Amino acid sequence: MIAEITAKKLDTAGFIAARVAEIREAVGAGAAINALSGGVDSSVVTMLGHLALGTQLRTVFVENGLMREGEAARVAALFKKLGVRVEIVDARKEFFSALKGVTDPEEKREAITQTFYRKVFGRLVRASKARFLLQGTILTDVDETVAGIKRQHNVFAQLGIDPQKAFGYRILEPLIQLRKDGVRKVGAALGLPVELFNRIPFPGPALAARVIGEATPARIETARKATVVLERVLKSSRAFQFMAILHQDRVTGMRDGKRDFGQQIEIRCWDSIDARTAKPTRLPFATLERLAREIVRDVPGIVSVTYNIAAKPPSTMEAV
Ligand code: XMP
Repeated sequence: MIAEITAKKLDTAGFIAARVAEIREAVGAGAAINALSGGVDSSVVTMLGHLALGTQLRTVFVENGLMREGEAARVAALFKKLGVRVEIVDARKEFFSALKGVTDPEEKREAITQTFYRKVFGRLVRASKARFLLQGTILTDVDETVAGIKRQHNVFAQLGIDPQKAFGYRILEPLIQLRKDGVRKVGAALGLPVELFNRIPFPGPALAARVIGEATPARIETARKATVVLERVLKSSRAFQFMAILHQDRVTGMRDGKRDFGQQIEIRCWDSIDARTAKPTRLPFATLERLAREIVRDVPGIVSVTYNIAAKPPSTMEAV
């Protein structure tokens, strides 16, 4: 049982000092490694690890081909400003070959997990001689995995899997007692720029979670382009999270005076505090219309745009 620290009760300075001390104590004079995705959780872990370990920590950004537009370079640049060196590792081929033909949501997650830990990251860790892996697992990930709602990609101990045996290294999870709102508070206290710690959450499986059915490079690119539009239009919205989902069904549309049996994008935009429950944001209709207009304009092959109005539960926030 993990003791929750609520955002309200969180003493950020004390929390940071305690986690930094724990990381130092665990790693000693050894080496640690962490993967930065640019999301809130891994950004906060990177900063905590950097404070605790300095150059004993190697931070890598695994380019899996499933990230948002320009993400790797953007994240590396932001951290460079904070004095943290981020190494970008191109693993796109490996991820897409693991995802080939995989359509089941849990099998997709599993393919990404295995490619990340066993292949790409496992290889990097072995080469680096690091024995410790810092990871940004939060309490919500644990809850939902234990409840069997979703297999989050980073919750080994709770599932009875020993990462030392299975993958050859020890995982440190300094954020495990927090939920998203607590992580954001820690991010702010660590001096991360607002654009990092206050970003909308983005799932580990990245755009593969936003594509129903097979995550091919072309389908991921479609979801990526739609995400660009969404992030542009909803930039200043106060929503907890929003996403563009590529559907598998085709629908008839019209383009340049011709019938086009095209693809559909579903938009979801959520109001939520901690992702456990969520309601669709009441976006102004004019905003929805602008989203539709710009998505069909900017994303090749899209002829239909829908907005999800069901709440979580029974919906989940992601569609995959
Ligand atoms: P759901 O879809 O479960 O999402 O209602 C709740 C929150 O968790 C994120 N999420 C994930 N994060 N790996 C992650 O790291 C996953 O497989 C995953 N699935 C969902 C989701 O974006 C939302 O913020």
